[in-house]
Amino acid sequence: MSETNLATRPTVPTGTDHDSTEPLHLAVIAGSVRDQRMSRAVAEWAAFRAATGAVEVDLIDCAEAGLPDDGALRPGGSEASTVAGRLDAADAFVIVTPEYNHSYPAGLKRLIDWHYREWMFKPATILSYGVQGGLLAAEHLRGVFAELHVVTTRRGVGLSRPWEQLGPAGFQPPAATGAAFDAALHELAWWATTLRTARRDRPYAR
Ligand SMILES: Cc1cc2nc3c(=O)[nH]c(=O)nc-3n(C[C@H](O)[C@H](O)[C@H](O)COP(=O)(O)O)c2cc1C
Repeated sequence: MSETNLATRPTVPTGTDHDSTEPLHLAVIAGSVRDQRMSRAVAEWAAFRAATGAVEVDLIDCAEAGLPDDGALRPGGSEASTVAGRLDAADAFVIVTPEYNHSYPAGLKRLIDWHYREWMFKPATILSYGVQGGLLAAEHLRGVFAELHVVTTRRGVGLSRPWEQLGPAGFQPPAATGAAFDAALHELAWWATTLRTARRDRPYAR
């Protein structure tokens, strides 16, 4: 991690404080697969920002997910992907997504569709980006996740032209962006703790 990133890291508990002794397991998902993709740098920033003693972070990169061929895709669960166990272990997700043609990328949709129970009854915060914040990608994701019983947090972050904040040390946004992300993480931590307890004590039955 760069010194700059260390300097901008919050020194007080922010979004990730919660009332459980068990660390929260947060999966940060880099949602694009292009060779020169921005999502990896943004996801690395988000993962560093979210990681505290109370939060264990796993960065899952769509470009490295190694999903099976779509010919084998089935509704409600297919053969296990190489990242199924890591998604299953997560209590919460941060989805880092660009906007492609007013939606989110096909690679991210494949990651979503290749899993089912790994997503269910968990919360997600959307960190979108594009020319104007990638908000159409974020709103499309909300509808898709609703189908999977994923609660998307009210707060998210929409980054406008984040490539202009990409330097040798990675993605380096202004302090206000970090504060907005911390606020979203705070909400995400509440949902993560609440839904983890609910999944354990009151498993959903149709
Ligand atoms: C296929 C494609 C479609 C795009 N469509 C949009 C768009 O609809 N709105 C937008 O703001 N940016 C759009 N962009 C620009 C992306 O926001 C920008 O290239 C961004 O860096 C892509 O994320 P990535 O680098 O992680 O792949 C598009 C980029 C690509 C490659």
